[in-house]
Amino acid sequence: MRLHVADHPLITHKLTVLRDKRTPSPVFRQLTEELVTLLAYEATRNVRVASVEIDTPVTHTTGVKIDDPRPLVVPILRAGLGMLEGMVTLLPSAEVGFLGMARNEETLQPMTYAERLPEDLSDRQCFVLDPMLATGGSLGAAIEFLFTRGAQDVTAICLLGTPEGISVIEKQSAGRDVTLVLGALDEGLNDKAYIVPGLGDAGDRLYGTV
Ligand code: URA
Repeated sequence: MRLHVADHPLITHKLTVLRDKRTPSPVFRQLTEELVTLLAYEATRNVRVASVEIDTPVTHTTGVKIDDPRPLVVPILRAGLGMLEGMVTLLPSAEVGFLGMARNEETLQPMTYAERLPEDLSDRQCFVLDPMLATGGSLGAAIEFLFTRGAQDVTAICLLGTPEGISVIEKQSAGRDVTLVLGALDEGLNDKAYIVPGLGDAGDRLYGTV
């Protein structure tokens, strides 16, 4: 697994405002989009391109364009939805699929409760959006799901992550092509599995349910 933790003052500035409990939902949503656009720049570093020939007004030349099959962006419901606009701003040609993950209250294991993805993901580069990498349970299950559908490689973009979550994803993705891009690496989890210092419940803060 490749890990990239952002190290840029603009990202840290925006994250600080996001963490502040006084930041209202509309600002939180706007900042989330801006942060994802900045993180997407790093996350798409290995996006597959093909060379093309074009004519500029001056001459004939070669360049590159994003290759087929198009990258697939997969927000995890519900909080990942708040990251979608920021991602497609940078990658407008991407296809978008959706995954809903929840914990099975009997087995305590994460399970897929909703899925809207192309049936065959062979050769697809997938970009998973999930703002909070806490225990790693739901993100790990989502990544696994995409590989069982044939994904070629998976890059997950999270605003915040924990050492616990990283180690779960690392173990689970052994032998697979997984990249994790984080806005910041936080200290860890509290006894309610919230990220510390974190930003609270990302879904509630995005959608104003607090
Ligand atoms: N999910 C959240 O929204 N916040 C956390 O701190 C952990 C998981």
